[in-house]
Amino acid sequence: MARVVVVGSGVAGTTAALRASARHEVTLVTKTDPAEGSTRYAQGGIAAAVFEDDSVEAHIADTLRAGAGLNVAEAVRVLCTDGPVAVRELIELGARFDTDGGHLARGLEAAHSASRILHAGGDATGAELERALLSAVRDADVTVLDHAFLVDVVVRDGAAAGVSLRFADGGTVTLDADAVILATGGWGRLYRHTTNPAVATADGVAAAWRAGAVVADAEFTQFHPTALAVPGSFLISEAVRGEGAVLRAADGHRFMTDLHPDAELAPRDVVARGIAVEMAAQGGRPVVLDATALGAEFLSRRFPTIDAATRAAGFDWSRQPIPVTPAAHYAMGGVATDTSGRTTLPGLFAVGETACTGAHGANRLASNSLLEGLVFARRAVDAIGGGWPEPPAWVREGRQVRVPLDGAPAVAGTRPTPVDRAALQRLMWDAAGVHRHRDGLQQAAAELAGLSAAGGTEDANLLSTARLVVAAALSRDESRGAHFRSDAPMTGDGVPVHTVLVPTRASTVPAPLTSREPTEVTLPC
Ligand code: SIN
Repeated sequence: MARVVVVGSGVAGTTAALRASARHEVTLVTKTDPAEGSTRYAQGGIAAAVFEDDSVEAHIADTLRAGAGLNVAEAVRVLCTDGPVAVRELIELGARFDTDGGHLARGLEAAHSASRILHAGGDATGAELERALLSAVRDADVTVLDHAFLVDVVVRDGAAAGVSLRFADGGTVTLDADAVILATGGWGRLYRHTTNPAVATADGVAAAWRAGAVVADAEFTQFHPTALAVPGSFLISEAVRGEGAVLRAADGHRFMTDLHPDAELAPRDVVARGIAVEMAAQGGRPVVLDATALGAEFLSRRFPTIDAATRAAGFDWSRQPIPVTPAAHYAMGGVATDTSGRTTLPGLFAVGETACTGAHGANRLASNSLLEGLVFARRAVDAIGGGWPEPPAWVREGRQVRVPLDGAPAVAGTRPTPVDRAALQRLMWDAAGVHRHRDGLQQAAAELAGLSAAGGTEDANLLSTARLVVAAALSRDESRGAHFRSDAPMTGDGVPVHTVLVPTRASTVPAPLTSREPTEVTLPC
């Protein structure tokens, strides 16, 4: 029996804790209330090839097509093959998916060749999964520590050996562990506009990075095309477009039909960029999503959560198009792992949005994220105690970008400026958002170098992750999937390479992951 600490209580964290509890001594740590996190706000659903007229091969093909050539094939195969089993287990656990005539109801979302999205409560899929999983965790032999902030991953003898935590009352504790599983979600709160809840501050990514783990593909943040353009944003599920809603510019023109044969159901990066261009052309005003043809009864029945939220914001979407804008939604990049969640630091696992398995490539297929949480959390638990192989080939052979861990070299006569969260989010939105340009990224890198934040805080985690995102975006001199550089608008030729961010201390030279000569990035961290 191993001592296992799981940090994070969304779909990946609860799945890991539950599965590990059958064999190990498990503590589940969560920053606020256990139910809080990105999972509970997931609307559209969960994609899996569970229907007879669908196939794992078709799901794999769609995932690869959306990923713009950067997917790790093995990770995609695992995701789509294990998906149906993981979903059936979830149903056995008590998750209640919507049905239609006694069968599972199925939805369509962008870039899927089949209607394969299972949903619950209409548009409240994440909330139902979280309910079912948390209820099972509470019935299992799992110690839950809530309102406990991950300060650091403890490293001893070159391996993860536990975590240090700080509670809301200021008390601290160190938990020893044989295996640490990070499942803290992504970095949506790096950006001014995001669909992510307040807790999405990259805590796991930043802690893994400080502990010495490699982070990969941080340039790839997915911007969801349609967040309600009101302060605080609110996700308007892609499933709404899947049911027939269309996007219009201020003059009523349906612009997506000019841009892609699949129009509003083109891959997310294409739709998000299309909207951003249209918004720029109309002086920054949001475009509108027109769902009026779907009718009030259908909208309130199929999308009760969105119906309530839009009405609370003062819109009757059955009668008037609603203003929408792209918003940061999901991190394709994260802590580099193999298909069993193993990071480059022995003893440290990362799963769900915290991890980068390479399954999503440069752009995640809609509704593959809840699935990823389920599938890779199960596999990470199964790998506990099973040794620690070398990093996967895509990590060893990636474009290595060394980023110093020890902080910015002091510039004579200057002092770092304490980070202001709102200013950081504006900077990231403008320089590392839907559209990027080398000049803006370089300017952002310089500004980030001049900032500081107290250690062991969300702001420190956001700041160090911002530096990784910018370093990665600067290092990728091409446009691919969600990473669009207007100074390099074409996708590069040849076999695409992953970005591998290697933490480097000024005093030491890191062991090479590969014989490839690393790219040096002059970005102080
Ligand atoms: C949505 O409902 O549009 C979000 C689903 C996802 O991010 O996969």
